[in-house]
Amino acid sequence: MGADLLTITLAAGMGTRMRSFIPKVLHPIGGRSMLAHVLSLAVELGGTKNIVVLGPELEETQETVVPAQICAQTVIQTQRLGTAHAVLSAIDHISSHDGNVLILYGDTPLLTIETLRKLTASLDDGADIVVLGFDAADPTGYGRLLQDTDGSLLAIREHKDADERERAVNLCNSGVFGFKADKLPDLLSRIKNDNANGEYYLTDTVELAKADGLEVAIVTCRELEVLGVNSRQQLASAEKIYQCRKRSEVMEGGATLLDPDSVYFSYDTKIGKDVLIEPNVFFGPGVTVADNVHIKAFCHLEQTQIGKGAAIGPYARLRPAAVIGENAKVGNFVEIKKSTIEEGAKVSHLTYIGDARIGKNANIGAGTITCNYDGFNKHFTDIGEGAFIGSNSALVAPVKIGDGAFVGSGSVVTRNVDKNSLAVSRAKQRQIDDWGIKFRRMNKSTKVKKQESS
Ligand code: UD1
Ligand code: CA
Repeated sequence: MGADLLTITLAAGMGTRMRSFIPKVLHPIGGRSMLAHVLSLAVELGGTKNIVVLGPELEETQETVVPAQICAQTVIQTQRLGTAHAVLSAIDHISSHDGNVLILYGDTPLLTIETLRKLTASLDDGADIVVLGFDAADPTGYGRLLQDTDGSLLAIREHKDADERERAVNLCNSGVFGFKADKLPDLLSRIKNDNANGEYYLTDTVELAKADGLEVAIVTCRELEVLGVNSRQQLASAEKIYQCRKRSEVMEGGATLLDPDSVYFSYDTKIGKDVLIEPNVFFGPGVTVADNVHIKAFCHLEQTQIGKGAAIGPYARLRPAAVIGENAKVGNFVEIKKSTIEEGAKVSHLTYIGDARIGKNANIGAGTITCNYDGFNKHFTDIGEGAFIGSNSALVAPVKIGDGAFVGSGSVVTRNVDKNSLAVSRAKQRQIDDWGIKFRRMNKSTKVKKQESS
């Protein structure tokens, strides 16, 4: 067991380059905000207290920034005077903490738990400060990690303050830091803002710690883990990296993706074994897919549960609270919302099922519509086990179709149908003999008259 962990996520940046009405850290990757990604890592790492530092513009709405299921508190940095100043806004939490402190950035959502564990392990092994570094393909703009000949960290120099020799260094600061809590308040109190930006730099803690004879360590990771998102382009890059990871995870879990690059997952998508996913499928948040399911091309799913052996699509839309039972079938151009399709039931073509239960082994014909909304309220349709709904039927809710009942195709059903009965509600068919001959004759003669008069 490592020491108690306090995490502080810096998120007071303006994010102006996003050109957005919402704060930068609330933009989503894989179906949830970047900040939620960072905070859930903090929680997974064992953060006993998790603090988010926000800018003053979020003072009014700070409760809405942290997702409900994540335990984190917010503090406001009233003026944006640098990373050390941002950490200082959580000083009360730091001073009262006994253990390790981890500093994260709210706009760096791709970090992995393995990397963060290396940082806390380094503190537990005796480091007073640990910095997460990476080899940058292009180090422009980053703080450089300046090392002694033995590889130990001497200082971090911001790009703007670095000379030519220092700028030639590729090993850069990711911004992620670990500190022993008892060392941090004193270091922070001695940081000055005599640099090119006139800001209080958290990176200055390294030189101060060195002068005090404290132990400073470096942990490294791959550059793509510390990709910071400042623009829509970087948001798209982060999404791409995130999706690659999710696709690998799903395949490692035993699912087949025919064209992985065209399938999009959310952070919480759960896919079972021997699931076959065809190209162009989108999983919004909250989807769980059991073993042996076949999801055909071009489906859109969100907040949906799919039971073992079910077949979905092509072109199916499963909306929130759709529950698809074992071996059920949902075919092309079918939309299902807040409904349970029980085991073995079939909804094969061109159908809307909303606020309904489709009983076990029932068969829903092409073009069936549950008319669930009257313009004010939603109503429930209950279809019994083994019922058969003929094509192009409209079931006007609230309505109940009994077990084993039949509905004749083209019916508009407004009253309950008893068990095993047939309901038909459509005009009786009649036949007018030779009508076609008379019709054609009549039209021909009017056409001739028109041509003569023109
Ligand atoms: C910082 C590091 C740099 C590192 C780089 C990695 C410092 C001085 N520099 O530079 O060494 O290579 O990150 O991306 O630490 N923030 C606040 N309040 C502030 C200032 C910043 O909350 O007053 C937050 C920002 O929202 C952001 C993070 O801290 O999430 C980093 O701030 P930013 O201004 O982007 O730092 P850089 O100049 O990029
Ligand atoms: Ca930055």
